[in-house]
Amino acid sequence: MPKNFDLLTARVGVRVLVDDAPLTPAAPVMWPSMGEYPVYDAGQYRVLTSDENRNARFRAALRHLAGNRTVLDIGTGADVLWARESIAAGARHAIAMEVMDDTCAAASELIAESGLENSITLLKGTSTELTVEPKADVCVAEVIGSVAGAEGAAVVLGDARRRLLNPGGRVVPHRCVTRAAAVSLSAVLGGREPAFGPGAIPLLERIFDWNGAPFDVRLRIRDPDRSAVISTDEPVEVLDFNGDLSSEQEQQVTLTVERPGRVDGVLTWMQMSCLPDEVPLDALRDDTSWASVYFPLFPREVAVEPGDRLQLGFRTTLSDDGLHPDYHLSATLHAGGAALSARFSSLHHGDVLHSHPVYRKLLLPL
Ligand SMILES: C[S@@+](CC[C@H](N)C(=O)[O-])C[C@H]1O[C@@H](n2cnc3c(N)ncnc32)[C@H](O)[C@@H]1O
Repeated sequence: MPKNFDLLTARVGVRVLVDDAPLTPAAPVMWPSMGEYPVYDAGQYRVLTSDENRNARFRAALRHLAGNRTVLDIGTGADVLWARESIAAGARHAIAMEVMDDTCAAASELIAESGLENSITLLKGTSTELTVEPKADVCVAEVIGSVAGAEGAAVVLGDARRRLLNPGGRVVPHRCVTRAAAVSLSAVLGGREPAFGPGAIPLLERIFDWNGAPFDVRLRIRDPDRSAVISTDEPVEVLDFNGDLSSEQEQQVTLTVERPGRVDGVLTWMQMSCLPDEVPLDALRDDTSWASVYFPLFPREVAVEPGDRLQLGFRTTLSDDGLHPDYHLSATLHAGGAALSARFSSLHHGDVLHSHPVYRKLLLPL
């Protein structure tokens, strides 16, 4: 076991490999992906509310679209951000929906404190089970994950368009894409051995408690080492919220290696445009609270050279909750005259544990 690595025992049935060596502020850190679970706390809302790069885009779209209209804010959060911003932008009325009880209570207090009870109607519950009358003209929803569709945006916004918006109603964001490139996990972590960052334990506990068992959570990388991306990148999930929107899709792409290195999986990250003509926010390159997600493929690193190719199939299916996606990757790496194939399924929830060797290292049996 390398120095500075600790095995911490989580309450929920696995020991978690944590790298507790001191980190510099911008060092890559691995956490579980968490936006797709109802485990938000005040700290997470603070991080979102202070993400100015993200907020400026939503604000600009609402300034453009909200004037004199009724705006529906799905997943308003504790800070009722987009409903309040819509009113500030001249909306006639805003309807805010929030599924988490504690968050909804905090949102209700904030609306009262701000004297906005007549301008904002707060509805508790999941948008797919709520109705609004009359319907809204604009829907704003920041339910975008680090893998763009992971929080269920395709189902939520498809349903909102069909049931909650007037014909011709507009959705913000306009479009999100998840891109993928070939990497190795240790390179993404700046050369450190794969392990969770110190803050990961409470999050893993909350996610595993919610799930009822430990499972192979998605691996979220904050501030990945961008030099780890050694191939071209391609879109593997496309969400056109004002156009053809599918909750299940499959993309086949070829990633061409551009620099010598090692590959054991792919790094994915999100790009988002809130309005049609804007340069998208890029979660890998821009300063934002959205992170990247690493998907493992090969059991160990494979050396690659420029011109080698990773053929990647990326299939999105809905999990058994009918809302959150499962992602299924199949890959063939053509390197050094040989072809190596691998498959990996990343499920939103359930009891699949140790489906890939990397999880046997990160989440050890007790
Ligand atoms: C990423 S946070 C965004 C919070 C806030 N809107 C912001 O942008 O800072 C997503 C919020 O949406 C809520 N949520 C997700 N899906 C929802 C749905 N279908 N209906 C109602 N609330 C939802 C979550 O509980 C969470 O509070």
